[in-house]
Amino acid sequence: LNRIKIPDGLQKLPGPKPFPIIGNVLELGNNPHLSLTEMTKTYGPVFQIQIGMRPVVVLSGNDVIRQALLKQGEEFAGRPDMHSSKFISDGKSLAFSTDQVGVWRARRKLALSALRTFSTVQGKSGEYACALEEHISNEGLYLIQRLHNVMKSDGSFDPFRHIVVSVANVICGICFGRRHSHDDDELVRLVNMSDEFGKIVGSGNPSDFIPFLRVLPSTTMKKFIDINKRFGKFMQKLVSEHYETFDKNNIRDITDSLINHCEDRKLDENSNLQVSDEKIVGIVNDLFGAGFDTISTALSWSVVYLVAYPEMQVRLQKELNEKIGTDRTPRLSDRTELPLLEAFILEIFRHSSFLPFTIPHCTSRDTSLNGYFIPKDTCVFVNQWQVNHDSELWKDPYSFNPDRFLSADGTELNKADAEMVLVFGLGKRRCIGESIGRAEVFLFLAILLQRLSFSGIPGETLDLTPEYGLTMKHKRCLLRVTPQPGFEPQTT
Ligand code: HEM
Repeated sequence: LNRIKIPDGLQKLPGPKPFPIIGNVLELGNNPHLSLTEMTKTYGPVFQIQIGMRPVVVLSGNDVIRQALLKQGEEFAGRPDMHSSKFISDGKSLAFSTDQVGVWRARRKLALSALRTFSTVQGKSGEYACALEEHISNEGLYLIQRLHNVMKSDGSFDPFRHIVVSVANVICGICFGRRHSHDDDELVRLVNMSDEFGKIVGSGNPSDFIPFLRVLPSTTMKKFIDINKRFGKFMQKLVSEHYETFDKNNIRDITDSLINHCEDRKLDENSNLQVSDEKIVGIVNDLFGAGFDTISTALSWSVVYLVAYPEMQVRLQKELNEKIGTDRTPRLSDRTELPLLEAFILEIFRHSSFLPFTIPHCTSRDTSLNGYFIPKDTCVFVNQWQVNHDSELWKDPYSFNPDRFLSADGTELNKADAEMVLVFGLGKRRCIGESIGRAEVFLFLAILLQRLSFSGIPGETLDLTPEYGLTMKHKRCLLRVTPQPGFEPQTT
């Protein structure tokens, strides 16, 4: 490390002194988002730690992160070569793999266009503005029925368990043109294991950095490999079915459109794109995986916050009642009419910062930031949690207060503050599912809040401490629902 020659005019990165072999793993602890935020007080917004033998540059602060990801975007757009990434989609993931720039760019473009096409296409019934709205509305109503049933049989329910199936069904509809029953064991088990996935993939997992940890038996690592295998098998079955029934005159969903792209490319002899069929059709794995875990985590947190802040739940229901009433189901186009709900969602994103770091980045060439030299191929962590809790940007950053995003009279959203919340990353690697993600969290919540009130179990306190991972989850808990007036479940 000390042998790196620093070019004239640039400085060596500051940071804590590493121990031999383990580096700064002990200082990193179990909550890297907190320990790395704390370190900015000593070392500033750009510093270096060492995890195992490997140097990692940690970026914090709105200005530094924007400088790196937007102004110097090209230099910070790579992904590091991580041990765990090799197990995700056989090492061929769009989001995690070290694809060379051209290949990644071509795949990302395909993924974006497929997502856009199949979320905005006309729904089946013609009753909805688009297929996305249709899927969310249907799944929202199924979910409500499901929660009423579980309440009747068990008296309480685990919110994440049920929400994740509904959210998975929305992305399943777009990717595969089908949904799964809430009683489908294979899907229910698969999507309920995503916390084990996130624990290994989260920034700073030591076995990604310390080679000897990989040969030690580790139950979390075994589980991680097992989840990826099961996920791969589940996806492969759906993809095979699509190949068998493929008809280029009837492109049904994202998988069909990706298969079609491979066929088209074979006819085009001038094509110079070197991307294998497997890597093209495999894009659907990324869309499905990223599409259910993130959104269900956001929604599950939202429900838990509603229970923790009951007066906020009442205000949100009042807003829905005044603007939409009980005669119709909320729609995506109602978003501008419901500023308090929008503010609530932004505050969930900010306060929970459930994606504390982006997926790790990597420098594509020698570069510098704030006068510090950063060599090519350096792993870079982007601390979104720090930006969302920076007292330079936010008044009382630790208090949960959706009103911070509203004008004094509560009728308008403050756009500048809204854009300051960092949860989807920025620049070249920015999330491609952002608009779907925001739309889905909004519409599910509007439908749920119109028809249900959430509460805890009397006498039990809710623990809002997140469990660290790529997406941080709340602890599993039991909640209750009661119907809103006018939406009592029909007894059959
Ligand atoms: C990447 C957040 C929903 C697909 C990311 C990243 C973040 C993120 C932080 C990493 C950015 C970086 O590395 O700098 C979220 C949040 C979501 C959400 C908070 C929901 C609330 C979705 C959905 C999809 C999706 C619904 C797809 C259907 C992806 C993909 C990438 C990505 C493919 C990798 C992009 C790349 O590496 O070029 N997302 N996401 N995300 N997201 Fe999302």
